[in-house]
Amino acid sequence: MAILRLPALGRQIVDVDEIYEYLKERGIYYDRWEADAEFARTADSEAVLQAYRSEVSALISQGFSQVDVMSVNELTPDLDALDDQFAREHTHEDFEIRFFVEGEGVFFLNPGEGESLIELRCVAGDLISLPRGLKHWFEMGDVRHFRCIRFFSHDKGWIPHYTGSDLNLKYRKQSSE
Ligand SMILES: [Fe+2]
Repeated sequence: MAILRLPALGRQIVDVDEIYEYLKERGIYYDRWEADAEFARTADSEAVLQAYRSEVSALISQGFSQVDVMSVNELTPDLDALDDQFAREHTHEDFEIRFFVEGEGVFFLNPGEGESLIELRCVAGDLISLPRGLKHWFEMGDVRHFRCIRFFSHDKGWIPHYTGSDLNLKYRKQSSE
């Protein structure tokens, strides 16, 4: 299950319905799907999409026709470079929808003025949909293993627009103190 932390408020939410409500009020959609398929480390995208074909079809029918699978594990080359790339604050011109089928990762969501940063640890079964324009970054954490299905409504949707903010570095520093 996901864990939502609000560092500015010293608050943590673990109840699925409360997480759903908190995110919904900020235009972020969260859901839980069954994720019980197991894959070999080397399994290809097709195997993953096939295992979740009915869920994938449901989102495609809602207009998210661009689908791919992102798989990161100890076999992935240049993990450090990838980590750096994910961990810079950015936005997208499209929704960013991810369904975690394995492993875990942490989204940092920055809703803006007057709002606490949201730290959302996602694990297998978590589905998150970030609205277009929401500032965010992503960290793999110590596990450095996740596999997720990504959905976009157009083929350039995944392109990140970096904000140039160093909030991620400040936050990382604070957390390690
Ligand atoms: Fe993103």
